[in-house]
Amino acid sequence: MSKEYEKLQSALLAVRSITDFEPEIALILGSGLGSYADTIKTVCEIPYSDIPGFPVSTVQGHSGKFIFGYDGDKKIVCMKGRVHMYEGYEPVDVVMPVRLMYMLGAKILFLTNAAGGINETFHPGCLMLIEDQISIFVRNPLVGSNVEELGTRFPDMTRIYDKDLCGIITETADKLNSELFKGIYVQVSGPSYESPADVKALRLLGGSAVGMSTAIEAIAARHAGMRVCGISVISNMAAGITGEELNHEEVQKAADSVAARFEELVRKSIAAF
Ligand code: HPA
Repeated sequence: MSKEYEKLQSALLAVRSITDFEPEIALILGSGLGSYADTIKTVCEIPYSDIPGFPVSTVQGHSGKFIFGYDGDKKIVCMKGRVHMYEGYEPVDVVMPVRLMYMLGAKILFLTNAAGGINETFHPGCLMLIEDQISIFVRNPLVGSNVEELGTRFPDMTRIYDKDLCGIITETADKLNSELFKGIYVQVSGPSYESPADVKALRLLGGSAVGMSTAIEAIAARHAGMRVCGISVISNMAAGITGEELNHEEVQKAADSVAARFEELVRKSIAAF
């Protein structure tokens, strides 16, 4: 058994000593997007700091927690708060929670984040369905000895974002008359925002939105055979597009302003999964 799998097993044991809840759907809520978790019928909450080996965010003071519960008849586990590579964690540690949620039973991973819009037809506060991703600027989370218990050494990434789940989210947005763009998410390491030249380069490569999370989580989930989908909240236009400087508070505020529309799309999509 690999060291990583041993670590996952002891984290699993710790969770199982608290709850036997088996989620079907795992959700990672990006910064400013945590309010969805308040709408589910909570069965149990576990702070990350109670789980051995769990990467706990030291930066924001609040380390975050798992929330287990029901959204209608769907069994959900939400991550309120995630850790990022820019905090200094290894990619394998950043994706540990995804693997743990898989081991708890989740077959679907719904990823969400705040991102900067690269596509100039986007606007702050719009939503983007992630159709594919560019992860080549960050280290792959599967580097190291392969966790055979989870998946193969060289997993296919031809279709990371599940076609049927993307279809359901698109139909749900149509029914809600809710504007939904589609595009390609680029993960960068951060923590600095991009330069205008970075953004031009990412656009030339086909990127639609840029952020500091998500893509490596999607890779780890596909490695384990989970079905993946994701939505980016475009909290700001990426650097150099409007001429305005970027700051974290503004980005957070913009994410807050679409929270209600985002939450409705997530909830109604999950109901239709
Ligand atoms: N760049 C990178 N990450 C981000 C941005 C951005 O413009 N906005 C929100 N997360």
